[in-house]
Amino acid sequence: MYKILVRLLILSLPTLCCSLPLSTSSRWIIDEPTGARVKLVCTNWAAHLEPMLAEGLNKQPAGRIARLVVEMGFNCVRLTWATYMFTRFANLTVAQSLTRLGLEDAMEGIAVNNPGVLNLTVVDAQRAVVEALARQGVMVVLDNHVSQPMWCCGDDDGNGFFGDKYFDAEEWLQGLSIVAKLYKDTSMACFVVMQVVGISMRNELRGPLQNASVWHRYMEQGARTIQKANPRLLVIIPGLHYDLSFTYLKKAITIKLQEQISGIHWQAGFLSEGQNAAPLFVSEFGVKQVGEDRAGSLFLRCFLGYLAEMDLDWGVWALQGSYYLKHGVHGPDETYGMLDFNWSSVRNPQFLQRLHLIQHQIRDPNSTCPTYHILYHPSTGLCIRVDNNSELHATDCRNFSRWNHNGNGNPIRLVGTELCLLAAGDGLPATLSPDCSSRRSKWELASGSEFQVANKDGKGEHLCLEWNPTHSSSRVLTKKCVCLDEDDDESMDSQQTQWFHLIAANAQLNVMGESC
Ligand SMILES: *[C@@H]1O[C@H](CO)[C@@H](O)[C@H](O)[C@H]1NC(C)=O
Ligand SMILES: *[C@@H]1O[C@H](CO)[C@@H](O)[C@H](O)[C@H]1NC(C)=O
Ligand SMILES: *[C@@H]1O[C@H](CO)[C@@H](O)[C@H](O)[C@H]1NC(C)=O
Ligand SMILES: *[C@@H]1O[C@H](CO)[C@@H](O)[C@H](O)[C@H]1NC(C)=O
Ligand SMILES: *[C@@H]1O[C@H](CO)[C@@H](O)[C@H](O)[C@H]1NC(C)=O
Ligand SMILES: *[C@@H]1O[C@H](CO)[C@@H](O)[C@H](O)[C@H]1NC(C)=O
Ligand SMILES: *[C@@H]1O[C@H](CO)[C@@H](O)[C@H](O)[C@H]1NC(C)=O
Repeated sequence: MYKILVRLLILSLPTLCCSLPLSTSSRWIIDEPTGARVKLVCTNWAAHLEPMLAEGLNKQPAGRIARLVVEMGFNCVRLTWATYMFTRFANLTVAQSLTRLGLEDAMEGIAVNNPGVLNLTVVDAQRAVVEALARQGVMVVLDNHVSQPMWCCGDDDGNGFFGDKYFDAEEWLQGLSIVAKLYKDTSMACFVVMQVVGISMRNELRGPLQNASVWHRYMEQGARTIQKANPRLLVIIPGLHYDLSFTYLKKAITIKLQEQISGIHWQAGFLSEGQNAAPLFVSEFGVKQVGEDRAGSLFLRCFLGYLAEMDLDWGVWALQGSYYLKHGVHGPDETYGMLDFNWSSVRNPQFLQRLHLIQHQIRDPNSTCPTYHILYHPSTGLCIRVDNNSELHATDCRNFSRWNHNGNGNPIRLVGTELCLLAAGDGLPATLSPDCSSRRSKWELASGSEFQVANKDGKGEHLCLEWNPTHSSSRVLTKKCVCLDEDDDESMDSQQTQWFHLIAANAQLNVMGESC
């Protein structure tokens, strides 16, 4: 099945090369005219529910929402849509759509914040939102999320696979074609650059009717349909089982995390490697940003490390702070939302901070910089930086230090210096030393997960790099390695202060503009 996926991805590359905005080269998405890598750093903006309107237009003007998207560091929105909006309801106005659902409350808010939208058809309202994003330079991936406008996704919600109650293949193809054509002219116009860069063909294929050969047939037809309607678009091909089983990870329980991350790699990550490598776009991941979400937060710690290591393109779930209508409730909060309930500011700045490294282009196929490493602490999303007194601190990943590590048993050298990372002793701050050959300067990636960076002392005991966000100091310590006891949740938690990844990077600049 996955080989087919690779082939299809390649098959579906735009072939007519008249100044395409984006294209692909091996596993990278690139800017066709210059060949430079473009990393899609997206947030999902829901617009596929019953009203068929991008959420939040009752809370803030679309232009303000677009500015917030940029301020949060995203360069892309994955905007969801329902097939029927184009094939059945294209002439419905926003006001009619909302009235039909008894959403006078939402309509009042829209009349205040986006009055121009009410008399537009739902299709033109989508264009207005894309245009608002384009004015801020935000790229858009249009995601066919469902057929019947409704909350997604369940095995038996009628939207899961070809042949389900609402999922007629012909109507789906018709929808793809209409959407691709709709953004053809605008994406060509140089003055209003409507940056619809791609269409993702369907969100989370699933359910009892799933069948790999049916999948193959329609993915190929879908890709050809889009290419025919608008050859400038990237075609994003979904996997089976809720998009290559990523979703079941959201329910991950502690002890199996490592296996599951290998599982991701086995089921999807491999796509971005080897001879037939193709870009892999992680369309949705997210956690509850308020209150307790233990499984979610453990998952995120693992997954952020993976996203950084692989430097994949991605979209976080979700932008919206609220909905017009969800499960029959008017105006509910979205606890996964990047924006707060009022769509006026960031819901959880700490969560946003955790995305900083992966918002950054870590690897650049065109870079002339030699490969270096970033010491990354995925539990907090922070990176290690050396200050001018040779102290190691965990700080925002927008300003990291560069390291070199040539494999287990070798020193970790601070790039541009003669200094190496040194384990001073249990409980003591990690330091730098010009002595790169001593035992205390030799480091290995320890534990089954290779998530711990360890130094072996004379007695064969291991000291691990550790940074504990609950300590008052931001200094990185070396401490006795906590071992992962598979039956013990507590040790899972304490071990995470010692989770570090050495992320291979070669990007020229960090976000602060320091050149390599
Ligand atoms: C990047 O590398 C490719 C392949 O070598 C080349 O065609 C392209 O022009 C390069 N792009 C830039 C911006 O240097
Ligand atoms: C919208 O209206 C036009 C003109 O009346 C009609 O041709 C078209 O079929 C309608 N579209 C839908 C989806 O109802
Ligand atoms: C929308 O259309 C209705 C009916 O044609 C009109 O009364 C109303 O003023 C219009 N609203 C806006 C904001 O243009
Ligand atoms: C999948 O679909 C193909 C072609 O439609 C059919 O021949 C095959 O029996 C199906 N497989 C399963 C497991 O249903
Ligand atoms: C949202 O706005 C309302 C009305 O202005 C205000 O009462 C409320 O505190 C705000 N909520 C948040 C989370 O900002
Ligand atoms: C980035 O880190 C360097 C080294 O510690 C420091 O001198 C510089 O002030 C930092 N820049 C910012 C903007 O934090
Ligand atoms: C080093 O730190 C001191 C005190 O924080 C500061 O005054 C000085 O400018 C720094 N030097 C460099 C080279 O960043």
